[in-house]
Amino acid sequence: MKVAVLGAAGGIGQPLSMILKNNLPAGSQLNLFDVAPFTPGVAKDLSHIPTDVAVDGFTGDDLPKALEGVDVVVIPAGVARKPGMTRDDLFNVNAGIIANLVRNCAKTCPKACICIITNPVNSTVPLAAEVLKAEGVYDKHRLFGVSVLDVLRSETFIAAELGISNQRIQVPVIGGHSGNTIIPLISQVIGSEKISETRIAELTTRIQNAGTEVVEAKVGAGSATLSMATAGARFALKVVRGLMGEPGVNEYCYIESDNKNSKFFAQAVVFGKNGWERALDIGTISAFEQKQIDEAMPALQGNIQKGVEFAQKWIAENK
Ligand SMILES: NC(=O)c1ccc[n+]([C@@H]2O[C@H](COP(=O)([O-])OP(=O)(O)OC[C@H]3O[C@@H](n4cnc5c(N)ncnc54)[C@H](O)[C@@H]3O)[C@@H](O)[C@H]2O)c1
Repeated sequence: MKVAVLGAAGGIGQPLSMILKNNLPAGSQLNLFDVAPFTPGVAKDLSHIPTDVAVDGFTGDDLPKALEGVDVVVIPAGVARKPGMTRDDLFNVNAGIIANLVRNCAKTCPKACICIITNPVNSTVPLAAEVLKAEGVYDKHRLFGVSVLDVLRSETFIAAELGISNQRIQVPVIGGHSGNTIIPLISQVIGSEKISETRIAELTTRIQNAGTEVVEAKVGAGSATLSMATAGARFALKVVRGLMGEPGVNEYCYIESDNKNSKFFAQAVVFGKNGWERALDIGTISAFEQKQIDEAMPALQGNIQKGVEFAQKWIAENK
């Protein structure tokens, strides 16, 4: 497998690249790209770890070289939140970065699976879809918004609530990846009948605000990086397993699924040799969860529209 990380020298990019170096299948190639000039140094550093994964670093004009023959692209490039900012506040800077990187993917590795970490994911993924469409290479089965950090956080918080091991819990998280569009389906967790309705509401709010918890605790130094790197690697490695033909590998992510709630929606998918093969039904949900979905959809539609409109303008101005 050939995997590229774009934004590889950043707070997420470096630990994410390290986890991939340590866990990609033997014989894989890992390409690191970042505008930061020390990116080849990050690759050199990782190359001293004794795993059977080759690492190369690229910067400057070498993005096409970094993308040559790549199967999976993971993108954490962009700016992160500071206290007081919402994910949406990042839009103006990150939208242009994503449009440019995704156009490069379309030109050099049009069949690659593209996993977007860069926020606001609710908008950057529809934006990327438009750019890929304009290049004539869009396949919705190969474009993912990485929302799985919401699943990791939910697993951690709810396992603690139930007093069980993190290894034994699964929490579906659907919708989107921002504020109230993050919708954990706590009612589907085994043992959740022991949690009161009030507590479920409190846990839901905590999961929705967990990113802000980190932003505030880091007092201006950025947002989640280490937990996000863990989440991003968990996701990318599952995409890789699917591409390699392993059956039944699944995960939550934000995709164009034409779900009845929204054109772009986070839900579980099963991976295959061509990206995500099928989206899984969201199952039976509680009245509280249905209300959460109903209340979140206007915001999600606004985020999607913002991404699409930016892309259309960007495509017209950057022929
Ligand atoms: N999806 C999620 O759950 C999630 C969670 C946390 C953070 N994020 C997002 O991930 C992004 C990165 O966060 P971070 O903490 O790593 O930020 P960071 O500032 O530490 O790193 C970003 C990196 O991107 C690089 N970069 C900027 N423009 C680039 C370009 N055009 N091409 C290649 N590289 C470029 C920078 O040089 C930097 O190294 C942010 O948008 C943040 O909001 C997403």
